[in-house]
Amino acid sequence: MNIDLYFTAAGLSENDLRGKTVTVVDVLRACTVIPTALKAGCKEIIPVKSIGDSSTLLGNLDRDVVVLAGEREGHRIEGFDLGNSPFEFTESVVGGKTVILASTNGSKVLVLGSAGEACVAASFVNVSVIAEEIARIGNDTVIICSGKEHRFSMEDALCGGMIISRLGERADTANDAAQVAKGLYDRYSGDLPGALKSCDHGRYLKSIGFGGDIDYAASVDSVPILPIMRQGRLVNGEEC
Ligand code: MLT
Repeated sequence: MNIDLYFTAAGLSENDLRGKTVTVVDVLRACTVIPTALKAGCKEIIPVKSIGDSSTLLGNLDRDVVVLAGEREGHRIEGFDLGNSPFEFTESVVGGKTVILASTNGSKVLVLGSAGEACVAASFVNVSVIAEEIARIGNDTVIICSGKEHRFSMEDALCGGMIISRLGERADTANDAAQVAKGLYDRYSGDLPGALKSCDHGRYLKSIGFGGDIDYAASVDSVPILPIMRQGRLVNGEEC
C-alpha cells in the first residue's frame, strides 16, 4: 500500500483520486465536528462546496429534518442553525437529522474526496479508527490536508503524520510530503494540545472565543467514529 500525502488540495483533481482510499483531514474543525455529530446520532452529513450549494440542496429536502451548519472566518454563517464548533452538535440538536455542512476548507475538500474508491473524514479525535480502516481496505491511499485557503496548516499535517505513524509497516511506500508529515508528528507528538494552540488557526480560533474547541480537537481517539462517504453523504461506518 502506497501513501501519498498532500499539504493542501491545490492542484488535485478527481482523476488523481479515482481508485484510491481518500482520507480528508481537517482538525480545526470540520473533520472534528463530523464524527462528533455522528456520535450525537445525526443521520448523515452532506458536505458542500459553497453556501449557494447548501441552499440548492435544502430546496430538495424537508427543512424539519435538516440542520444547516457552517462557518466563514470561524463564525456561524448568517441564517444557519449552527456554526462549526463541536460543542454545538448535541443529540437534542442533530439527533436523527441530516446536517448540511458548509465550511471554508474541509467541506470543499470532502466533496473532492468523494471521487475516491472510499473516502473518510479524519482528525485526532478518530485517528486510530481511520488508520485501521485504511489498513483494512489495503488500497493505495491519498491523505489530503485541508489546510487554510490553500495554505499549509500545521495541525492537519500533524494529524496526517499521526495516521502514517499508526499505519507503521503496513504502509510500504510514502511520498516526500508523507515522510515530512511523519517527521513533524514525531517532533510534536509529546504535546499535541500545545502544538494546536500555537498553530495559526488555533491562535485565531482562540482570539474569537473558540479556545475550548482546540483542546477538544487535540483529544486523541476521544470520538472513535468512522465517518465514511456514501453517495456524497458521510455516515457512521460502523452502522453500514
Ligand atoms: C474549515 O473547514 O476551514 C474549518 O473547519 C474552519 C473552522 O471551522 O474554523
